[in-house]
Amino acid sequence: MTLSWKTGRAELVRRGPSIVRRLRLGSGLVLFSYVFLHFLNHSLGNISFEAMERGALVQEWIWRGPIGTLALYGAFAIHLPLAFWALYIRRSLRMGWIEGVRLGLGFLIPLLVLQHALAQRFASAYFDIHPIYRNVLYLIWVADPQIAGLKQIALFTVAWLHGCIGLYRWLRVKRHFHLVAPFLLVVAFLLPTTALLGVFQGARQVEATARADPAFLTALRKTGVGGMPGVVAALWTIALWSWGGYAGAFALVLMARGIRVLVERRGGTIRIVYPDGRAVRIPKGLSVLDASRRAGIPHASVCGGRARCSTCRVRVLLGSESLGPPSPAETRVLAPLGADRAVRLACQLKPTADISVWPLVPPEITVRDQARLNATETGSERFVAILFVDIRASTQLVESRLPYDVVFILNRFFEAVGSAIIAAGGTPNQFIGDGMMAIFGSEIDAQQACRQALEAARLIDWHLGEMNRTLASELQQPIGFGIGIHAGDVIIGTMGYREHAQTTAIGEAVHIASRLQDLTKEYACQLVVSETVGEIAGIPLDDFSRHEIQIRGFSAPLTIRAVGSAAALPGYEHPAASGETEQGSHPGAPIYAQST
Ligand code: FES
Repeated sequence: MTLSWKTGRAELVRRGPSIVRRLRLGSGLVLFSYVFLHFLNHSLGNISFEAMERGALVQEWIWRGPIGTLALYGAFAIHLPLAFWALYIRRSLRMGWIEGVRLGLGFLIPLLVLQHALAQRFASAYFDIHPIYRNVLYLIWVADPQIAGLKQIALFTVAWLHGCIGLYRWLRVKRHFHLVAPFLLVVAFLLPTTALLGVFQGARQVEATARADPAFLTALRKTGVGGMPGVVAALWTIALWSWGGYAGAFALVLMARGIRVLVERRGGTIRIVYPDGRAVRIPKGLSVLDASRRAGIPHASVCGGRARCSTCRVRVLLGSESLGPPSPAETRVLAPLGADRAVRLACQLKPTADISVWPLVPPEITVRDQARLNATETGSERFVAILFVDIRASTQLVESRLPYDVVFILNRFFEAVGSAIIAAGGTPNQFIGDGMMAIFGSEIDAQQACRQALEAARLIDWHLGEMNRTLASELQQPIGFGIGIHAGDVIIGTMGYREHAQTTAIGEAVHIASRLQDLTKEYACQLVVSETVGEIAGIPLDDFSRHEIQIRGFSAPLTIRAVGSAAALPGYEHPAASGETEQGSHPGAPIYAQST
């Protein structure tokens, strides 16, 4: 496929934010590893300063080799400019205190680390000086505790806190984070504490040795940077220029922000009106979520404005005719909700004319109650398998019956399907008209999730077969069904309004599973399952017809298998399946089926 300059640029604009996020994460992880290993080494001071120096040899081997040097300097060269970029593109400097602390500490690190880096790496590379632990410990404990000592402690604290907050913000929406969080918290407190104690112990030992052994003190002064006034002066000059350059870069970014604001204002402003009558004026080009943040209006945004959660969604009450169509990312999030055209994602919606909006998810979910909400309520990212099942020929069913009979039959249908899903290990999640959505894998691994979803399809066929036999006299024809199964990362969270809120899944996988269920009509089969599910489950689906399909809103084609009868799926030994009885009663079978 040839990519024109125009489409290439559009693609870059579309994917740019996620590339930047990945680069920032990757470089941040490298820098955090460096700090982590540094702290481990400091902890060796609790044994002796010689132990610290032996440990430092391992550190040097890792970080001063070609790969380590490239990784470390590369990470720094990426992370710092991206921090400036983040400051520049930020529409509002209003932010939560955690984010504010993270950002502030991050910008302090280069200021604090500069002299230490110059003395350690620059001096050894250009002045043939090789200061080791004992030199640094002597400097911060004996020679210059007020300035060098306090600065090291400040650097120590700032770098660790910045890294830990960044790590927390990345991990908090991950599956199983709540399981590892207590362990990580212990490490977050224990490691810097033992490292700091190690530094104190090592420094006291160096001081005692220097007092007791004049030769040791003389050697110490000779090998350290402090013993060479010419080098100290040169390093000071470099440090001053570097600090000046850093301050200049900071000022330039702030100026660029100011210019951007002016340019945006010249492009015109628009008004966003909220349900309580408040009107917020913003420059064109900002999103509705930006407007809420600027005006300090609480607005739910579980994923932080990345078009992954839908909690920021609003209903556009007035002015919808001036809005452009939703982007593919926005469509992907909204489609599974069955939202009408007036519902939009506030984080993606950038109005060009006045509009009035109604936020649909209570802000308390992420503002007032966030501290006490658990991972499910605040939304967490998990890999799950999603199954959609729908009754066939429901119109004929309704047309020829009294409403009471229809409700009776539908409830038997849901009972049969729901018990099959539970028996397989899944959770019936939503009842949509005469269909149902189920989630597999909120507490288990991906392979088990996909196996359970396939097993559920087999059990649904079995349970509905039993139901059709039981209700044969009530039904003119057996009730048919269609199932769609797909798997992927989704956001699981509690969504809705007040007491009507419920836990559900949102994401691409949900939308695709729903579409696959629709396709069972087209392929005249009981089940359409994505090949991904079979592969992850480790269950071969080669016997079923294979198709490549294109799902609206997704650029990549999807390979699926059309399964005529779910009963033909290869079996999987579910733990509960061993309870099958001689009469043919199946585990999890609904009561009416077991009694026949
Ligand atoms: S904040 Fe998550 S989709 Fe808008």
